[in-house]
Amino acid sequence: MSHITIHGTAPLRGEVTVQRAKNSVLPLLAAALLHRGSCRIENCPRLSDVGAARDIMEHLGCRVHWEGRDLVVDATQVTRADIPPSLMSQFRSSVVFLGAILARCGEATLSYPGGCELGPRPIDLHLAALRTLGAEIEETGGILRCRGKLRGCEILLPFPSVGATENAMLAATAAKGSTTISNAAREPEIVDLQDFLQKLGISIHGAGTSTITIRGGAPLHETTHRPIPDRIVTATYLCAAAACGGEITLRDTDYRHLAPVTTALHQAGCCLRCREDSITLRSTGQLRSLPPVRTYPYPGFPTDAQPVLMAALLRARGATMFVENIFENRYRQVAELTRMGADIRLEGKVALLSGVERLYGGEVHATDLRGGAALTVAALQAEGTTTLSDIHHILRGYEDISRDLRALGADITFTT
Ligand code: UD1
Repeated sequence: MSHITIHGTAPLRGEVTVQRAKNSVLPLLAAALLHRGSCRIENCPRLSDVGAARDIMEHLGCRVHWEGRDLVVDATQVTRADIPPSLMSQFRSSVVFLGAILARCGEATLSYPGGCELGPRPIDLHLAALRTLGAEIEETGGILRCRGKLRGCEILLPFPSVGATENAMLAATAAKGSTTISNAAREPEIVDLQDFLQKLGISIHGAGTSTITIRGGAPLHETTHRPIPDRIVTATYLCAAAACGGEITLRDTDYRHLAPVTTALHQAGCCLRCREDSITLRSTGQLRSLPPVRTYPYPGFPTDAQPVLMAALLRARGATMFVENIFENRYRQVAELTRMGADIRLEGKVALLSGVERLYGGEVHATDLRGGAALTVAALQAEGTTTLSDIHHILRGYEDISRDLRALGADITFTT
């Protein structure tokens, strides 16, 4: 069984280049379906979720191959408009292909992406947005059949869902006339998707604000795109160095996407220097507790960074309260952290963390993607050896977490 072994407590020092964002790459790959030709995603991270997206694209008839670190998608031929349940369930964000297939083929058949480790993950907002665009959607036995001539419209999202915004943007590229999405998600990955769509030749603007306008039906052309840096991977390594002490520089990243995280680490006692495309963090490893950390849609504190910040504060002086407002089940790593000596009390969406003197290594398992990253951050500060299993969760989002942390001086090995 593959696992990660970590001998903790050393400070981290060094430099690492941050991978491109998983949460950008997946919708970009779906968007590549819109163009009857090739697109190149530069510096695409080699993640298991990217592999699963590739399986879907190949099933649809696309040709996909790696050229060095770039992923090239040739969507000249899309020969089918369905995704079977076996491919949908490999990869939870597979639902973002719905809008793209519908735009390209005028129909799409796929199953529900299913629940996930973070709690129920409904797609009602996605479906409502597509219905507003004119799609007829039938649901039988967990299979969704969507078809219809899409026409420009006004979509009001009751909540700024990232995935629903992406699906609406993708589907609206094929709608006749102009579509406005109000209360759209404002995440940097939405802006990146807009940048890619603009390069394809689509008239779209407003991403990064709550209102996005798309004019459908333009002829498309091929493009090359370098996705934005992964802000959650950046947050993970910053949190690791904050907790262990030392000084690290993360290159090829964008501090502007991370303000709530860098602010929290600064308040906890770290010294940060943000330059155009790098962040340097210095820490004594003795952190202070924080005022309540509440997760919100962007630009609020990101839910994906909550587990790693919590892990960074496990030995901080004093107590910190976390309030998780986005996902129901985002504290699954807490039981494992407690086994390592952490003091965390849970009640519903609130976690109350009291800093402890020491953490202890042991055998723990990754509960989900970001929970696994949090356990890695905890293990780096724990006395003794930690063996982390179920790391397939981590491989969904981190290209090579042990390579990167080793480059920062951590004693960490990955065993396949
Ligand atoms: C995306 C990110 C994920 C991140 C999340 C919030 C990707 C691949 N994943 O997930 O890493 O944690 O944004 O920043 O980009 N909801 C509904 N109905 C819907 C859609 C969502 O009730 O139709 C609820 C969800 O259950 C959840 C909340 O809205 O409680 C946020 O979901 P959403 O913003 O859609 O997140 P994802 O796009 O799934």
